[in-house]
Amino acid sequence: MPEKMMKTLLCCLFLMITSRTMALQDLGKNVALFPKESTTSYVILKSQVTTSLTSLTACVNFHTTLTRPFALLSIANPGKFNDLLIYKNSTTSSKVFVGDEEIIFTTPESTMGWNHICAAWASSTGVVTLWQNGIPSPRKTMKKGYSIGTQPIIILGQDQDSYGGSFEINQSFEGEIANVQMWNFILSPYEMELAMANSNLIDGNVLEWRSLDYTLQGDVIIQPKLQYKTNCRCNGC
Ligand SMILES: *[C@@H]1O[C@H](CO)[C@@H](O)[C@H](O)[C@H]1NC(C)=O
Ligand SMILES: *[C@@H]1O[C@H](CO)[C@@H](O)[C@H](O)[C@H]1NC(C)=O
Repeated sequence: MPEKMMKTLLCCLFLMITSRTMALQDLGKNVALFPKESTTSYVILKSQVTTSLTSLTACVNFHTTLTRPFALLSIANPGKFNDLLIYKNSTTSSKVFVGDEEIIFTTPESTMGWNHICAAWASSTGVVTLWQNGIPSPRKTMKKGYSIGTQPIIILGQDQDSYGGSFEINQSFEGEIANVQMWNFILSPYEMELAMANSNLIDGNVLEWRSLDYTLQGDVIIQPKLQYKTNCRCNGC
């Protein structure tokens, strides 16, 4: 190979490696702080998989004093603005949307401090599970046979009512979000315990907080986490 070509190749390789490491940030000890409610502050995340999703588990840690409804994780595809949405309806209820359909779950009351919420859905059965602080609500079903689209816009802290926008202030998040993880499979109860304990043994393969490709919008800032342990009501976390 001519030397010039070799140099160009090496240079490209170097650029590819550095741009990748610059884009992926380890937020393991950090939170995304949404200092006030708005329609302009959110975080855009990039998925690590490009295939459609027929099975998933998504988890988020949140710390807020809001008692009104708010969106945590919103995934829109063209024509399906609630392709996946995890939404707190009140301190004792949550909504999960898949493919623009919704299910409301009654949950244990959100605690002061950090709460851990996970939603899981499998196309093969339609079964939806909502966990809050390690406690699963009775399961329900929706969207059996459906697949979540392949052009997702993934947003933390706002509810997309169009593809990438149309946010409403009364659904916006204010507070702190951390440990966002998403998998393209259903976590077993043991894996759910690991996820709740923020273990690096079960990092997400769709979204991984310890290696995240993200963009901050508006007033959101990254800050060190003040509390290392989540405030879940269980032994050993
Ligand atoms: C959803 O929240 C509204 C108030 O925001 C409340 O009136 C309603 O009961 C909640 N739904 C459930 C199932 O808890
Ligand atoms: C938010 O406000 C809009 C209009 O201001 C209203 O139509 C909508 O029902 C409100 N949503 C919630 C969740 O309160």
